[in-house]
Amino acid sequence: MREAPNRRLRKNTMSQFLLSSQPRARWMRLDTAQLLKRFFFCERSLLVSAAAWIPVIAPLDAKIGLARFIWQNAETAHAMRNRVFELRFPSRLLEEQGADQALIELFGAVQDSPSVAAFLLSIGKALLPALRDSYREYLEASDAIADGPTHRFLSLALSEKEEQIRAFEQWAESVLSADPELREGSLAWTKGVADRLSQVGGVGVGPSPSLPATGTLPGSRPYAIPERPARDRRFWPCRFYWPDIVDPGYPYGEGVQLQLRSAISHVNEVWAIEAGGVMLSAFANILPWEWIYNAARWTYDESRHCRMGYERLMAWGLDAAEIPLGTYIYESASGHDPTYRLGMLYFFETKNIRHKPARTQLFHAYGDSVSEHDMDFDWADETMHAGYGKHWLKELLAVRGEDPAAYHQVRECW
Ligand SMILES: [Fe+2]
Ligand SMILES: [Fe+2]
Repeated sequence: MREAPNRRLRKNTMSQFLLSSQPRARWMRLDTAQLLKRFFFCERSLLVSAAAWIPVIAPLDAKIGLARFIWQNAETAHAMRNRVFELRFPSRLLEEQGADQALIELFGAVQDSPSVAAFLLSIGKALLPALRDSYREYLEASDAIADGPTHRFLSLALSEKEEQIRAFEQWAESVLSADPELREGSLAWTKGVADRLSQVGGVGVGPSPSLPATGTLPGSRPYAIPERPARDRRFWPCRFYWPDIVDPGYPYGEGVQLQLRSAISHVNEVWAIEAGGVMLSAFANILPWEWIYNAARWTYDESRHCRMGYERLMAWGLDAAEIPLGTYIYESASGHDPTYRLGMLYFFETKNIRHKPARTQLFHAYGDSVSEHDMDFDWADETMHAGYGKHWLKELLAVRGEDPAAYHQVRECW
């Protein structure tokens, strides 16, 4: 039964119009766009800093996990950015941080953390919880009808943040228990990050405080791309993980040798996770957002390939101490322009891709469905990566005023 209009609508005695007080109208279109823009820049700064740290972090599960979180956060940031455009926010304003500059700088400042433990702890205890709380507040206060598209991806981002916080805390704790002397300095650094966060007004869902840049954090150590990658001590440390790297006459092998070679090769794609992280961060301020978005996916994919190899080797009962984890590919680009890391990754993508379907068939013939499965998925990823490599190498050359057609020459250096 229909209610009479005068009972359904609460008339405001002060107005001649139909008014109702509903919390869902709290934020107007541009208010939500401002907040999403702030979240986008925080996510962007954090993931760029985190990507740079991939080669510095030794435990394989943390290296692989970090790549996955960087990808998750790039997906979240990408959805936020698209939503801001949908909301018809002036698009040129998405190119600048605006009134949230001090906050966004702080999210980037963890790149200069003084140690691995300090880096992990400050993100796990200060920055990620601030994002988690802000997303929760946003979801509670915004309108699930008008802003439904945001609700979908932000709910997912909130649950991912909870998982990320647990992982960062656990990684920090395991680094600190192995090296207790780092605890005091890491806690002091984390407190410095948390204090600075409250000084700049936190992330939150309130108006921007429009503070000027606040300068470097006390105890910062300027980040430099490491010359050597940190390696998980459980594995057999080496430079060259298979004889054919130094002896081209050594056969790739068939049968069990091929199964092992393929799994060892996959786990050694640890170098590709590291190269992905370094180049994502190195070109973040030179190339457009789409670079960061593609590079995050690329880095995550390489972490999946690495894990594929690790899981196969473990399932066959091998001892990690007998599995070689090499460093030479990463180190061969150390001290050079990071463009060579992009060229190198692109080179390996295109060099190996043609062998993969044949190896997939061989694994099928052996009845080794896990190797077959991994190689087949890997092939699809690598085909996509070859496209990323070609596109972004050309873009990078163009941005530098060089001939984009010369991308082959960078690739040929390897
Ligand atoms: Fe790969
Ligand atoms: Fe790849």
